[in-house]
Amino acid sequence: MPEIGKFRVGEFAVTEYDSLDSTNNLLKKLAAEGAPDGTAAIALTQTGGKGRLGRSFFSPEGCGLYMSVLLRRDIPVGLAKLLTPLAAVAVAEALERCGSKKIGIKWVNDLYADGKKVCGILTESQICPDGSALNWAVVGIGVNLVEPPCGYPEGIKDRAGAAFESASENLRERAAREILLSLGSRLKSLGSREFIEDYRARSILTDREVTVLPEGIPARVKGIDGDCRLIVDTPSGERLLESGEVSLKL
Ligand code: BTN
Repeated sequence: MPEIGKFRVGEFAVTEYDSLDSTNNLLKKLAAEGAPDGTAAIALTQTGGKGRLGRSFFSPEGCGLYMSVLLRRDIPVGLAKLLTPLAAVAVAEALERCGSKKIGIKWVNDLYADGKKVCGILTESQICPDGSALNWAVVGIGVNLVEPPCGYPEGIKDRAGAAFESASENLRERAAREILLSLGSRLKSLGSREFIEDYRARSILTDREVTVLPEGIPARVKGIDGDCRLIVDTPSGERLLESGEVSLKL
């Protein structure tokens, strides 16, 4: 995993690698070895990029940004579930500042543009032995910046899209810098939950008919509550979804 560069953005110290199995895996290993808050890694390509629910994340070279950041700061355990949605807002606003398509958020961790998934976020964390706070969290961000020249593979080609119409100079590095700036500033107000208003404004599920998985229950999305839970109306009454998945026909 040769290093190809280093740079700093605010509190984040980023190392770039040409290829890794997964930037999240590297940062979890570094966390176990005592790496400090703000350690970040970018890979030009990932051989084992991973998503939520054990899925893989397609990470070809030259068309995406694959980045993880280590947070080792005082994050009460009750706020841990807000890290992914906060990062979603930070990434969405950062990509738009770089001139992307308009970015919406599909609860809980996916960013969409023109009806296609353009980014996924995977947060992995470890809780302190006394259970009150996080020991560390690794926030992994995978952005499809531009369409791969040969298109997306069979299994994802109906759902996957790119955040930008076309490539431009230093797009990956500019996007990484803007994302880290937004993330750094949004994290300062994690506890106030201020970002949730922006999350709601970007939600593409609100007022839509969805299917709650894995049960396959039909539901209508009413909104997002102060803990970033999805409020849905189902045939058996209102439910608050903590995590998991809903499917939406786009
Ligand atoms: C998802 O779509 O469910 C989340 C995808 C997260 C992908 C990013 S790419 C950088 C980091 N390294 C990984 O292996 N996964 C995350």
